[in-house]
Amino acid sequence: MLNITPDTGAFLAVLVRATQARRVLEIGTSNGYSTLWLAEAAAALGGRVTTLEFAPDKWELAQATFARSGLAATITSVQGDAGGWLAAAQTASADLVFLDADRSRYPAWWPDLRRVLRPGGTLVVDNAISHAAELAAFETMLRADDAFTCALLPVGKGELVAVRAPD
Ligand SMILES: C[S@@+](CC[C@H](N)C(=O)[O-])C[C@H]1O[C@@H](n2cnc3c(N)ncnc32)[C@H](O)[C@@H]1O
Repeated sequence: MLNITPDTGAFLAVLVRATQARRVLEIGTSNGYSTLWLAEAAAALGGRVTTLEFAPDKWELAQATFARSGLAATITSVQGDAGGWLAAAQTASADLVFLDADRSRYPAWWPDLRRVLRPGGTLVVDNAISHAAELAAFETMLRADDAFTCALLPVGKGELVAVRAPD
């Protein structure tokens, strides 16, 4: 299921709480493991998580995970392609975005991802160390953007954290 590691889950939960992120967007649900870390933290703030998954079988598994978790009311789980969803999403509608899907698509998604993340918001990208070569082009785009301050953290598979400057 290519889930995040538990220390990445704990890191995400801390980040949601520290930044008071009430509108969390996750791209790449799989069976919902990372979603639970995000949702537990968002729920404590009265917030919620929207999570996107392309594969119908994984989306189904995630529904069962969410039903068992007691956090289903906090989660909006969408089955479909993240690219299309992002293109239709409201500007500045996410406080925190967790990106953990098809890495080859991130550069193409970037204009909409950037638009959807609110000024002052936080982007976290998984696999930034484990798949550094695959993420190189995207990381270069992020680091070249003056509105973003980036740090690569040796947590789990490597978390690239980028904070967008406030307007
Ligand atoms: C690494 S797994 C996600 C793991 C999950 N975040 C966790 O830690 O529990 C990546 C997921 O992204 C999904 N995915 C890949 N391309 C996608 C796309 N274009 N739109 C939505 N989901 C996509 C895959 O089907 C896969 O389930």
